[in-house]
Amino acid sequence: MKKQFLLLLAMAGMVSLSSWAQDVVLENAKFHAGDDAAWAGVNVDESSWSNIKNSATWTSQGVKIENGFGWYRYHVTIPKSMLDKSDLKETVDFVLGGVDDADETYLNGKLIGKTGRFPSDEKGYASQWSTKRNYRVKANSSLIKWDADNVLAVRVYNAGDPGGMFEGPIRVRVPNTIDNLSINISEGTDGKGVVQSFSTLKSTMQASKSGVFAVKVVDPETGETLSEKSMKVSINEKKDKTIAVPYDNHRMVRIVSTFTETKSGLSCTAQYIPKYILTPAAPAEPRFNTAPIYGVRPGSPVHFRFGVSGEKPMKFSAADLPAGLTLNPDNGALSGSIEKAGSYTFTVKARNAKGEQSQRFTIRCGSKIALTPPMGWNSWNCWGLSVTQDKVISSAKALIDKGLADYGYCYMNIDDGWEAKERNADGTIAVNEKFPSMKDLGDWLHSEGLKFGIYSSPGDLTCGGYLGSIDHELQDAESYNSWGIDYLKYDWCGYGRKHRTEPDNQTVASYVRPYLLMERYLRQQPRDIFYSLCQYGMADVWKWGEAVDANSWRTTGDITDTWASLYHIGFELQPELYPYAKPGHWNDPDMLIVGKVGWSNNLRDSRLTPDEQYTHISLWTLLASNMLIGCDIAQMDEFTVALLCNNEVNAVNQDILGKQAKRDVVDGSIQVWSRPLSDGSYAVGIFNVGKTDARVDFKKYFPQLGIKSLKSVRDLWRQQDLSTSDVSYFIPTHGVKYLKIAY
Ligand code: GLA
Repeated sequence: MKKQFLLLLAMAGMVSLSSWAQDVVLENAKFHAGDDAAWAGVNVDESSWSNIKNSATWTSQGVKIENGFGWYRYHVTIPKSMLDKSDLKETVDFVLGGVDDADETYLNGKLIGKTGRFPSDEKGYASQWSTKRNYRVKANSSLIKWDADNVLAVRVYNAGDPGGMFEGPIRVRVPNTIDNLSINISEGTDGKGVVQSFSTLKSTMQASKSGVFAVKVVDPETGETLSEKSMKVSINEKKDKTIAVPYDNHRMVRIVSTFTETKSGLSCTAQYIPKYILTPAAPAEPRFNTAPIYGVRPGSPVHFRFGVSGEKPMKFSAADLPAGLTLNPDNGALSGSIEKAGSYTFTVKARNAKGEQSQRFTIRCGSKIALTPPMGWNSWNCWGLSVTQDKVISSAKALIDKGLADYGYCYMNIDDGWEAKERNADGTIAVNEKFPSMKDLGDWLHSEGLKFGIYSSPGDLTCGGYLGSIDHELQDAESYNSWGIDYLKYDWCGYGRKHRTEPDNQTVASYVRPYLLMERYLRQQPRDIFYSLCQYGMADVWKWGEAVDANSWRTTGDITDTWASLYHIGFELQPELYPYAKPGHWNDPDMLIVGKVGWSNNLRDSRLTPDEQYTHISLWTLLASNMLIGCDIAQMDEFTVALLCNNEVNAVNQDILGKQAKRDVVDGSIQVWSRPLSDGSYAVGIFNVGKTDARVDFKKYFPQLGIKSLKSVRDLWRQQDLSTSDVSYFIPTHGVKYLKIAY
């Protein structure tokens, strides 16, 4: 089973059905490890069988079957009344959901369905853990014992870890007509580029069914219907119906689509949250968007690009640049080096056809780098191991063309998958055929004022099974220097095998050791290399990351694009970590999961809803986290660009005080997180982590935040000043109200 497994579990569906037939819900089963054909039968002595839930894998319930079988048995009374109530009366459905990995399902001793293949099958083993099982038995079959005990027996085979039935209750139901119809909603544009919602009604039935299909655009806050389209339709398995309805994509709306079948009067409904853009368009005149500070060590090359939005072309100039530095007038790239430690302040100007802007800027030349959290891109969440040099270049070009570089995104980091199978004869690390020249790539990125990052492991192998740096740490650090590397993500992975054999592996020192070793060699290089520890938070890395001179450390396992993952990493694992972040040293709750991601060549839109994405970026900026974009920037849509390029939101992340947010309030599903900013104000995120929309009176939490009276309130996403007296806010499910306040 794939790593992404747990993450898929919480996938938010865009389709919800109502008016389902009644169903019988089976939460628990009797369970037996092993395999015996007799266990399919009705009369089996279950006295030695254990109890098991089907809402979690067997592994998580203490069952250890790595490559083998286990049986689940359920006793279910199927009420005849279900049949009487159904308008269809055709089948009895056994809805199992996903099963990890393959199953055969028996009703009263007879096989009713099979998904995936067992190792003994003719074509060999095939996992289909994510396929939803819905086994149908004809309602008039003698197999069904109405109003009596029926035995449902599921034979499950699992390879690897974890295994079993995991998707929650099994449902037994007699479907109505309406249960065979479904609505799917998506968004896009029409031929003229007008934003539209597309609601498609589908049927799995041969016979045509007719009714009224209605699509509404609704304001979730007031419940008001903003626009509506409805029509009489007739559909069958060969004939769908799609209704397109335009909506304003700069406002929070819901698309609610309902089909009411004429004959039964029953209906099904789907709801969809379209992407909506809150960030106001940037002005045409130049605007500086990045922190006015930069750290570099004496003698190290400076690679920096002033982040300025506004109409292009733009010209950059600086009258009093520190000696040793030059500014590229066309792209704002600063290069060169400063020999002497000290603080250098100067004025930079950006000019375009619409106007001119200047910014006072300070370079701190000393021992610290990364005075604000790193912003940029990493290849992992999009391309996984299929990353290539061309893909890095295409995202870097898009970073510039789509304006993300104007907001300070500058690191272009290659994750796992660049290494050759074997080292060169002299022991130096070699690149694989997907990377024709690291040096050329680095030179080009630097010419654009961008920075270059790479990935390795202190172990023999990386997580992707590529060569790690063990026993070659110095050589690798030297190679990185020769390629112009500015960022190293150093991922524990294969080192775990060595660590397990070490006599002192219970100690913190044993976790520190590989990271200290590489730090020494990195610091010997004549350039600044951001040192990013990736060991998932083991041995409380936040307590010693700074001591190994790490610039950031991952605080968690891998993130994925689901609410469950975002919630766990963001809201459960970060609250206590605020004391450890500071300029030069940051907590890293992992890379961003917005835009098109996929960990492979198959990219998809992030499965987070738009509100979840606002929550993600708001929380990550509050957490002073690394802001590494994880999607293919070349395919980034307007919504995602606006989400990542809100100068006021990003200013929280990049605030030079460098204080990470603290969670001040947990009130049921409402959480309030805040962080002090360098101008004396506070950034405050009011999050609704619950399943329903909420109205929150912020006043309620003033005592916990120490607020006596508010001087100012600003909505950071909308960049609008708000009332200081009426502070009641509508916050959608999984959404946020992100404020900057002074008091
Ligand atoms: C680990 C890391 C990921 C990524 C992969 C690469 O899983 O946590 O961020 O770097 O390895 O194989």
